[in-house]
Amino acid sequence: MKIIEGRALRATATAAMLAAFGAPVAAEELFYVSGAVGNAVEDFKKIVKPWEEATGNTVTLVPMPASTTDQFGQYRLWLAAGATDIDLYQTDVIWAPQLADHFVDLTEAAKDLAPTHFPSIIESQTVNGKLVALPIFTDAPALYYRKDLLEKYGKTPPKTWAELAETAKLIQDGERAEGKADLWGFVWQGNAYEGLTCNALEWVKSFGGGQIVEPDGTISINNENAVAALEAAKSWVGTISPDGVLAYQEEEARGVWQTGNAVFMRNWPYAYTLGNGDDSAVKGLFAVTTLPVGKEGDTSAATLGGWNVAVSKYSTKQEAAISLALYLAGPEAQKERAIIASNLPTIISLYDDADIAAAQPIIPQWKDVFLNAVPRPSAPTLGKYNEVSAKFWSAVHNTLSGNGSAAENLELLEVELTDIKGSGW
Ligand code: GLC
Repeated sequence: MKIIEGRALRATATAAMLAAFGAPVAAEELFYVSGAVGNAVEDFKKIVKPWEEATGNTVTLVPMPASTTDQFGQYRLWLAAGATDIDLYQTDVIWAPQLADHFVDLTEAAKDLAPTHFPSIIESQTVNGKLVALPIFTDAPALYYRKDLLEKYGKTPPKTWAELAETAKLIQDGERAEGKADLWGFVWQGNAYEGLTCNALEWVKSFGGGQIVEPDGTISINNENAVAALEAAKSWVGTISPDGVLAYQEEEARGVWQTGNAVFMRNWPYAYTLGNGDDSAVKGLFAVTTLPVGKEGDTSAATLGGWNVAVSKYSTKQEAAISLALYLAGPEAQKERAIIASNLPTIISLYDDADIAAAQPIIPQWKDVFLNAVPRPSAPTLGKYNEVSAKFWSAVHNTLSGNGSAAENLELLEVELTDIKGSGW
């Protein structure tokens, strides 16, 4: 009897879902793959629950490594093999052109939802007129700083990278002299992976050194401003940043920061909620600002990140999968995600939402930062982006490790990129 009642209730809820999403939904078990940083797995369960309850479907999250580079490698293998057991993929903003052929076109299903999102983000997920994935959140990094420590040393948040290095050193020396032996000035992501491409693009761009490959396809990376940017970053390693930073991804940087062992951190907005959690040593002690510039007159650069949901062409449960994709990209799920995980929404109206602003002040504060964020050259380099990025982060990682100078490594990089480009991207 209970079961029957449950079914009847589910049927009513399904009807409501149908009205909301217009897609016929049968009870299915869906598999969703996603990388996971912070509390992403638990958060995901909370976010999908209303959809599961309303449709009677269930969703199993298959967690992937945190590194977007490792995820990409795995996804490419599954997709190339036409794997039918994964229904939905959570995809990085840079992947659309490379994976487009494996995903369902969501243009028609999202015809009412897509216009409520920022057009530039929808455009980034559109390849030759096909809407490859629906945005679930966008990303633009912040410079996290310890308010208490800056105040103690009479410092204001730095405007230039040189100022950041100076303040970081002053506070690091002062605190170590007082017995805080583990304190570092600045933590960031220096591992050889996509995250380093993001960090280094910010240094280069904010030193006036361009965007690696420009929107028109020109390879611009071998220039003196880019050299100056990489040399500046190299000078941090072993002085204000631990040598280990060359192996850090987002979570390692956050680990040092959240135990109270860093003055500054470069990280994405997800670290904001976690840093204010009850288990965080820096709860209430920090604020965020935009990343520094090379010199006065240059503009701050934040790399545009973000995540989307795509439905596999090989899924045998496409109707349910599309319904879930629409739900995850829709206002209810995006609002919940913003409140519990401080992920930046891609739906324009949510930036005026009072509940979000009250729970996560970084979100309204970050609207302009992400609107002005610098895209990685995934659009101009098309299917070759991953190779381009891997060459770039290797050149940067070599420079930071003292393996060749910035000038030498960028000169070589230009040759390698020219070769990858061939007669055209
Ligand atoms: C964040 C960004 C993503 C980027 C990654 C690099 O997850 O949202 O776009 O590729 O960091 O580590």
